[in-house]
Amino acid sequence: MYITRRERFSSAHRLLNTNIADNDNNKLFGKCYQLHGHNYELFVTVTGPINKISGFVIDLKDLKQIIKNKVINKLDHQYINEVDFMKDTITTTENLCISIWNELKNPIEQLGGKLYKIKIKETENNFFEYYG
Ligand code: NI
Repeated sequence: MYITRRERFSSAHRLLNTNIADNDNNKLFGKCYQLHGHNYELFVTVTGPINKISGFVIDLKDLKQIIKNKVINKLDHQYINEVDFMKDTITTTENLCISIWNELKNPIEQLGGKLYKIKIKETENNFFEYYG
């Protein structure tokens, strides 16, 4: 059984590798080197056995709360480059998937589920998926 919770957040970022020069960043990232934003959609998929007492794999209100506290509240209407779990990375959606996975994996295990997939929809046409 796989359960997916969707959340949305709107954030600003710029793609920037702090180890290379300004004009190299400009060449590498083009328009994305400039400050801009996205309306992201995050899909968190959890798997695990059905609890005999509750009939749930995971209580969705607890899952929702964890995603809000660990991820959405930190990202929504914020500058991703300065968010604690993204500070030292290039703020691509690839790296965002991995950082969100790392933020959620243990708290979801504490609720009795197992994190299966992080999917982020960045634009109408671009989706990213990470399975750990
Ligand atoms: Ni972007």
